[in-house]
Amino acid sequence: MFKFVLAVFLATQAVMSLPSPLARRSTGAWCDGLGGSAYDLAYNFSLSVVNSTLPNANSTGAPLVLNPQGQDSSGVATYNLATYNSQPDTIGIWPNFTLEHGTLLANYLADLSISPSGDETEVGGPVTLTSDANNSAKIYCGVADTDPEQGAPPLLALYTNLNEFSICHQREGGEADLLIYNATSSNSLYDYVSCYPVLVHLLYNY
Ligand SMILES: *[C@@H]1O[C@H](CO)[C@@H](O)[C@H](O)[C@H]1NC(C)=O
Ligand SMILES: *[C@@H]1O[C@H](CO)[C@@H](O)[C@H](O)[C@H]1NC(C)=O
Ligand SMILES: *[C@@H]1O[C@H](CO)[C@@H](O)[C@H](O)[C@H]1NC(C)=O
Ligand SMILES: *[C@@H]1O[C@H](CO)[C@@H](O)[C@H](O)[C@H]1NC(C)=O
Ligand SMILES: *[C@@H]1O[C@H](CO)[C@@H](O)[C@H](O)[C@H]1NC(C)=O
Ligand SMILES: *[C@@H]1O[C@H](CO)[C@@H](O)[C@H](O)[C@H]1NC(C)=O
Repeated sequence: MFKFVLAVFLATQAVMSLPSPLARRSTGAWCDGLGGSAYDLAYNFSLSVVNSTLPNANSTGAPLVLNPQGQDSSGVATYNLATYNSQPDTIGIWPNFTLEHGTLLANYLADLSISPSGDETEVGGPVTLTSDANNSAKIYCGVADTDPEQGAPPLLALYTNLNEFSICHQREGGEADLLIYNATSSNSLYDYVSCYPVLVHLLYNY
């Protein structure tokens, strides 16, 4: 009996003295409910989507890039995210992303202070970034993969959801394949029939 108690005590000590790789590294509301492997600081990653309806989808996926939507009268530029395949022109300008306490930034290397940042995204609408840093929203979280299948990259959550992303083919104002949050048949921007669900991965080149 005593031996058993001692063994349990020693095991507990061993666990407590190890830095837990699964300790939640964010206390922000943008990571609520996403478990112990949620974190909100990440640098120099790219984004990539994996078709979650295909059982054998590999974890590399299709890269995402910024898709410029023009400027409003006060000079604020808006961007969606599109597959690189459908919108190959911008990856040299915003080559990689930063996640900083809930804010997603598309690094503009010439002047990081004017990097486009993630804005509030409407349900059923395209995931949106703007050049107005004052409007950047704390809504993104990263979640390290703890699946027994080894080596899958971390996932991006928006509004604490990992499973609300789709790629949909644009119907108005362009031909891109856009990243949509909680796709709906009632948004005329894209063809709902073309949508398929995806997971968004953070990929690190190092
Ligand atoms: C990100 O990459 C850029 C360009 O290589 C580099 O200057 C910068 O130090 C990196 N930032 C971090 C936090 O690793
Ligand atoms: C970020 O992008 C720059 C410019 O393309 C590149 O030189 C750098 O290696 C990238 N950083 C990482 C960590 O991939
Ligand atoms: C994703 O999977 C669905 C069916 O599971 C398929 O219709 C669609 O073409 C796939 N998209 C890509 C880009 O592979
Ligand atoms: C992953 O899938 C993509 C799209 O089907 C393909 O282009 C790529 O080569 C695959 N990568 C690996 C490592 O198999
Ligand atoms: C952002 O806020 C600062 C300080 O309040 C202001 O000077 C600047 O004009 C604002 N930028 C935009 C694009 O609204
Ligand atoms: C997704 O949209 C539907 C309506 O189309 C809504 O009922 C549901 O709550 C939304 N889910 C999220 C996570 O926003």
